[in-house]
Amino acid sequence: MKKKILIISGGISKEREISLETGKQVARELKKNGYLVKNCEPDNNLINSVKSFKPKIIFNALHGQFGEDGYIQSILENLKISYTHSGVIASAKAMNKEISKKIFIKNKILTPKYIKYSFDKSKVELNNLIKKKLNFPVVIKPINEGSSVNVFICKKNEIHKKLEKLKSYKEVLLEEFIPGREIQAAILGEKKLGAIELKPQRKFYDYEAKYNVKAKTKHIIPIKLNKKKYKELMKITLKAHNLLGCRGVSRSDFKFYKNKFYLLELNTQPGMTKLSLVPEISAYNGINFINLIKIILKDASTNK
Ligand SMILES: Nc1ncnc2c1ncn2[C@@H]1O[C@H](COP(=O)(O)OP(=O)(O)O)[C@@H](O)[C@H]1O
Ligand SMILES: [Mg+2]
Repeated sequence: MKKKILIISGGISKEREISLETGKQVARELKKNGYLVKNCEPDNNLINSVKSFKPKIIFNALHGQFGEDGYIQSILENLKISYTHSGVIASAKAMNKEISKKIFIKNKILTPKYIKYSFDKSKVELNNLIKKKLNFPVVIKPINEGSSVNVFICKKNEIHKKLEKLKSYKEVLLEEFIPGREIQAAILGEKKLGAIELKPQRKFYDYEAKYNVKAKTKHIIPIKLNKKKYKELMKITLKAHNLLGCRGVSRSDFKFYKNKFYLLELNTQPGMTKLSLVPEISAYNGINFINLIKIILKDASTNK
């Protein structure tokens, strides 16, 4: 009998379109390889879809809020069906950039200096806080978002204007801007998978640079690092994956400056279209798209 896989994609996050594309491409590849596949949304019909289709495994192809932050994972736990990628706690820790940075700092993983800012503070309070802790330029970013949505690099005179755009979040992070190279590294099935360097042609690796081929971001693989530095990068990546308690696949985003790796964040639901970074790193290391998906399925929780 064909193995049944239910793919959940779409959702309500700002990364909905990317998730739908991941869901579509993973479904196509699984069908080509003899699986019985159904796609669904994480909406009110989810529980009915699970009960009627009776999948062996649920493939979580969601990104961002409600899909990458522990919420959907807790529903899946409750349904007692095995699901791919990280579980409730790891997802929640990784999605929250403040919590994950605290864990990195506590465990001696370098991450850019930061402050948390809540919009009930005055401009003067903010200016004093920045003066005390950070140097300009600073990067402002939401605590629970992805795909560079609402991430801005600001000079001193721009900060208040840019912060206006993030008001709906109530709280945001302000980080010291780290110049240098943009490097991402992945873990697959508890093993070090590999790394890639991105050379955006824009101001930074923003949404357009990530998803619009016309933005012409260069992907450099194999990555140009000496053996010792590459080993160090992969060691930090595995350490971060394990510290947060991740499962299956994860991708960590770094800046590399003055010979040091700064971990920006760890993604528990990295993009999985054929053009995404994890499939690219995976293919370079000899694991094609279907085998990558199979390893992720093999690592699904045994949530029975
Ligand atoms: N502290 C920083 N210094 C320099 N660039 C940064 C910094 N923080 C974020 N960026 C840029 O913004 C991009 C997105 O930031 P990141 O923290 O990875 O959030 P997201 O979850 O949106 O991907 C990074 O890939 C990088 O190009
Ligand atoms: Mg990122």
